[in-house]
Amino acid sequence: MSDAKLFQDSAYLQKNQYRDSRNLDARAALHRRFSTAVADWQPWVFDLLQLKPGMRVLECGCGPGWLWRENVARVPDHCHITLTDLSPGMVAEAEAALAGSGHHFEFQQANIQALEFADATFDVVVANHMLYHVPDLPQGLAEVRRVLKQDGRFIAATNGDNHMKELPLLVPEAVRQMTASWRMRGITDQLPFRLENGRSLLEPYFAHVDLHRYDDGLWVTEVEPLLAYAFSMIKPEMDVPETAAAQLREAWAAKIKAEGGIHISKDSGVFEAQK
Ligand SMILES: C[S@@+](CC[C@H](N)C(=O)[O-])C[C@H]1O[C@@H](n2cnc3c(N)ncnc32)[C@H](O)[C@@H]1O
Repeated sequence: MSDAKLFQDSAYLQKNQYRDSRNLDARAALHRRFSTAVADWQPWVFDLLQLKPGMRVLECGCGPGWLWRENVARVPDHCHITLTDLSPGMVAEAEAALAGSGHHFEFQQANIQALEFADATFDVVVANHMLYHVPDLPQGLAEVRRVLKQDGRFIAATNGDNHMKELPLLVPEAVRQMTASWRMRGITDQLPFRLENGRSLLEPYFAHVDLHRYDDGLWVTEVEPLLAYAFSMIKPEMDVPETAAAQLREAWAAKIKAEGGIHISKDSGVFEAQK
C-alpha cells in the first residue's frame, strides 16, 4: 500500500499508528519540551472554542483527550461534551483520564464520515489534526455541518507545508539509504487537508471561514526526544535498523553539541468556520 493510502487507511490508523497514544505521546513530548511559542498549544486552541455555560460540543478524532485534559479547569458549567475517535484505544484513554473530572463528558467510538447524532445537535464541533486522515473528506465535512446547530462553529487544527520541514534534511544520506521506507509522510509530503488548502475545502460547507495561525518553532537541545519523534512516524512493518538509529543519534548529538541545539520550523493553525 502506498504511503498516501496508508495515511487514510482506517485499519492501519486504528490498529497501528493510533492503537493507543504512544506515537502521539512521542510527538507531543517534543513539542511540549522544546516549543518556542509564548502560549501553550491546547489552551490557545481552547480559547478559540469560545465555550459558554450549557453548550453542547462534539470532538471528532479526540485522541487521548488532551484538549480537555489540559483545559479541564476552564470548562464552563453545564457543558455537554462528546469525545469521539475512530480508535477504540484512544477513546478508552480519553475516558480513563476525564471520566471523574466533574464535567459532563461522553465517549464514543465514531468515524467522522458517519456520525450517529441527530441534525443540529451541537454548538461547536472540533476536529484537530485529523481531517487529513479522512478518506472521504466531503462526506466528513457534510456530517459536521449536519450535526451543527444553525450558527454553530467548526474548529479544525492542521499543519502547513513548512511544518517540521528541516527534519528530513537532518537525516544523513547514509542513514537515509538504510531507512528508505521510513514513513515520514506528514513531514515530507503535503497533507491532504493543510493550512494552504483548508479554506477552499471548508468553504463549500460553511458560510464563513477564518484561519488563526499559531506562532511557534522548536529549539531542540536533547537528542532522544527528537529520535522518538522520528521513530513514531515509521511504517508498522519496519524495525529501525540498530546501525541506522545509532548513526542518527550520533549525528544529531554532534549537531546539538556544536550548535547548542537544532532549530526546526513549525507551521500550525486553526480554521474557525461558521455554519
Ligand atoms: C493526529 S491524532 C490527533 C488527536 C487529537 N485531536 C489531538 O489534536 O491531539 C488523529 C486522531 O484522529 C483519529 N482519526 C483518524 N481518522 C478518523 C476518522 N475518520 N474519524 C474519527 N477519528 C479519526 C485517529 O485515531 C487519531 O486519534
